Amino acid sequence: MDDFTFKQLMLGKERVPDPMRYRKGAVNYRRAGKSGLKLPEISLGLWHNFGSFDHFEVMRDMILTAFDHGVCHFDLANNYGPRNGSAEENFGKIVRENLNGYRDELCISTKAGFGMWKGPYGDGGSKKYLTASLDQSLSRLGLDYVDIFYHHRPDPETPIEETCYALHLLVQRGKALYIGISNYGREETEAAVRIFRELKTPFILHQSCYNLLDRRIEENGLKDFAAEQGFGIVAYSPLAQGLLSDRYLSGIPDDSRMRKSFTLREDRLTPALLKKLLALREIAAARGQTLAEFALSWVLRDPVVTSVIVGASSSKQIRENLKIDPAFSAEELEKIERVCKSE
Ligand SMILES: NC(=O)c1ccc[n+]([C@@H]2O[C@H](COP(=O)([O-])OP(=O)(O)OC[C@H]3O[C@@H](n4cnc5c(N)ncnc54)[C@H](OP(=O)(O)O)[C@@H]3O)[C@@H](O)[C@H]2O)c1
Repeated sequence: MDDFTFKQLMLGKERVPDPMRYRKGAVNYRRAGKSGLKLPEISLGLWHNFGSFDHFEVMRDMILTAFDHGVCHFDLANNYGPRNGSAEENFGKIVRENLNGYRDELCISTKAGFGMWKGPYGDGGSKKYLTASLDQSLSRLGLDYVDIFYHHRPDPETPIEETCYALHLLVQRGKALYIGISNYGREETEAAVRIFRELKTPFILHQSCYNLLDRRIEENGLKDFAAEQGFGIVAYSPLAQGLLSDRYLSGIPDDSRMRKSFTLREDRLTPALLKKLLALREIAAARGQTLAEFALSWVLRDPVVTSVIVGASSSKQIRENLKIDPAFSAEELEKIERVCKSE
């Protein structure tokens, strides 16, 4: 840990946002589709490392480091933890202790759609679940409203009209300003967009997994559909949970997600993948970038992507992830495709 990080950690509750935050970093802001809302190109997600078993001062340092560099969008969900709900509680505490008075500079999103509490009403896409879940999230966060509320995944057992209307109602009640959907396929998205349009719901974002190794939204036409319809793509896991960084290029570190969490299994790291990652790192180095900077830049090369939501386990990673250059030559893009499509 360097001296600066140590001093910031020691400040804890006393730490205040850097007054140079919008000039200091090189973060640009992009409009979410055709809406009026802008998001930073890099946003911070709290899926991992913000739960009950993580170190609170490290979380505080990550949130405040991000904000000090103009990263004003933080992405949560009701079930982020573990324990479910603890990421919202921890984030709420940091907002209260360090960002009180900055609410209008923050864009906070949360979601509901995965299993959250016992019984028939704690999962899915019903009006019953979505309305109760957002109330619970607001209480854990200590907020009156969130900026973006997402349905986390499609629920084939609930009529899509009911889900969309429940989301619409939450906007009318002032509990969310904008609506998003996540993990919806192309056809499910088309159906939802039709309903949102009829209701005049401020639906502005689709949150999907998108990175150099996961091209599903290119293959199923969702990315083109977003561009055509005027909503934005928020790309989650842009580093493929850390694979698209230097983290695993010479073994599996003990403090890495692959060692600590079931969401990134060791058998993902095959010799063929490692070969691909090393070839991508070579292209990155020729651009003067680390593999992580390069991978994030690549996702942002397309303007339909409003923001990439990165995860992090330290503020050092957050600082590295801000070095973006989304301009690629045709030759570079061709080289990248050759590597990604190789067996
Ligand atoms: N809507 C959904 O269904 C959904 C699903 C998944 C995620 N998300 C959202 O997307 C966010 C990001 O997802 P993710 O955490 O999988 O994203 P990611 O950015 O692909 O992976 C983050 C991990 O990569 C490693 N890392 C980050 N920066 C690094 C760097 N500069 N050098 C080396 N390693 C680096 C860290 O791993 P270590 O911990 O090993 O250091 C970090 O925890 C989530 O927090 C959540 O908000 C949404």
